[in-house]
Amino acid sequence: MKLSDRVAIVTGAGRGVGRATALMLAGDGARVLVNDLDAAEADSTVAEIVSAGGTALACPGSVTDPEFPERLIQTALDAWQGIDIIVNNAGYIWNGAMHNHDDEQWQAMLDVHATAPFRILRAFAPWLKETARAEQAQSGVARCRKIVNVSSVSGTTGAATQIAYSAGKAAVVGITKTLAKEWGRYNVTVNCVAFGHIETRLTQPYDDAPPSIRVGEREHRVGLSDEQVAASRRASPLGRTGQPADGAGAIYLFCIPESDFITGEVLTCSGGA
Ligand SMILES: NC(=O)c1ccc[n+]([C@@H]2O[C@H](COP(=O)([O-])OP(=O)(O)OC[C@H]3O[C@@H](n4cnc5c(N)ncnc54)[C@H](O)[C@@H]3O)[C@@H](O)[C@H]2O)c1
Repeated sequence: MKLSDRVAIVTGAGRGVGRATALMLAGDGARVLVNDLDAAEADSTVAEIVSAGGTALACPGSVTDPEFPERLIQTALDAWQGIDIIVNNAGYIWNGAMHNHDDEQWQAMLDVHATAPFRILRAFAPWLKETARAEQAQSGVARCRKIVNVSSVSGTTGAATQIAYSAGKAAVVGITKTLAKEWGRYNVTVNCVAFGHIETRLTQPYDDAPPSIRVGEREHRVGLSDEQVAASRRASPLGRTGQPADGAGAIYLFCIPESDFITGEVLTCSGGA
């Protein structure tokens, strides 16, 4: 139990990688605040953690709501009087060729992948500063806290039809590197995981028409053709695509004490593709 005295916030933890991350952190002893846009999915993650003997609370809501970041931080502080880990994972894809991207699409991708993590981390800053300074005054060193932001190989190497998504995911890399420099003085490590193909609802295979998902009021086409899935598998030296637990494992590495001297890094989790 490496995280038994730790409090973690995981956004977008109702499904996919976020859910697997919440389960993994809770399985290692962390108390986890589970956020998702879809309340029923957040509740279901909490129920699974609790039934396995862990501790979790749901904090449903959209990370893009300007009021939400303060509520997220305050909910964790009210429940557990501290925050040690924040995983900015919530996100989705809204793809299309460059010439078909409209302003709303562009803004939506930046809102969820860049502005939301920025606001959540800004909302965390006042409590962090005060607490880290008090810990430093008391024992000489602040407790090591962890931020893990979720990017994509689309943000680090580009991907056709994802101009807005890849811009948002590249912004996350800048946020990570800058905040690692600013918050080192508070003993916070700030790192980023860039996923390749992980099997979630965003990458579900189809052989005919692409499926869609509902995000708030909108439907978005997702999925990969069987041919694209086969190409992803061939591109990986491991010969497979990732499971949500593979993604969670990469995030977990940045949450445990063994990574206390690693900050400002981008770790690609793509099976070597
Ligand atoms: N699956 C992949 O291959 C892949 C690759 C690269 C990056 N990613 C990134 O990984 C992260 C997790 O995605 P996933 O594949 O697990 O997808 P997923 O759809 O299975 O899970 C994402 C969760 O985020 C939630 N969410 C979306 N918008 C939200 C909002 N505004 N507020 C709160 N919650 C919101 C969704 O409801 C969903 O439950 C995303 O940031 C995604 O862009 C995924």
